[in-house]
Amino acid sequence: MSLQSPARLGILLSGRGSNFLAIADNIAQGHLKGCEIAVVISNKADAPGLESARERGIKAVAVEAKGRKRAEHDQEIIATLREHQVNLVCLAGYMRLLSPGFVQAFPQRILNIHPSLLPAFPGLDAQQQAFDYGAQVAGCTVHFVDEELDHGVIVLQKVVAVEPEDDAHRLAERILVQEHIAYSEAIARVISGDYEITGRRYIRR
Ligand code: GRF
Repeated sequence: MSLQSPARLGILLSGRGSNFLAIADNIAQGHLKGCEIAVVISNKADAPGLESARERGIKAVAVEAKGRKRAEHDQEIIATLREHQVNLVCLAGYMRLLSPGFVQAFPQRILNIHPSLLPAFPGLDAQQQAFDYGAQVAGCTVHFVDEELDHGVIVLQKVVAVEPEDDAHRLAERILVQEHIAYSEAIARVISGDYEITGRRYIRR
């Protein structure tokens, strides 16, 4: 099912926000048609990504998580997303697990980007994990979010070769370049509605 046009994105981030900026640039340059960023939300008031959003005139809201129960914090985020008529939630370096209630509030309408070829290397420091394991290919995955960590249906993956002269940092930098391409491509696919999901398989029509 395609999203209403324009699709209204809600970006959730906890840090520098380079994926958010790549999406914002693609929209500004007309490469991601039919969508706009309605709001950027962070669980950390000092996340640099919030400041970048404000500099671009994009609504940016901090919903501090510290000392609050997950479900209660998530309810406030859901309310903020609804207030801004968000119909596609994009996690972009959002370092918190979503409660089941959050996932159910936006069924098949929450995307995440993870810097590995899932299901390999879920969790933290995925690029370091891939490097230490001796993987010869690494990459990134954009997937729908379900109730398990780094687990939902895969929309798109990009492969990055691990080069002999790599260290984990260099590898992560090249993966990040691909992340910035992959996220906007995945958003465009989801907005188009030209796909079906059968079991775990995302099938383009
Ligand atoms: C990215 O590597 C993303 O894949 C992971 O967290 C990092 C966020 O980076 N989930 P940024 O804040 O978008 O620059």
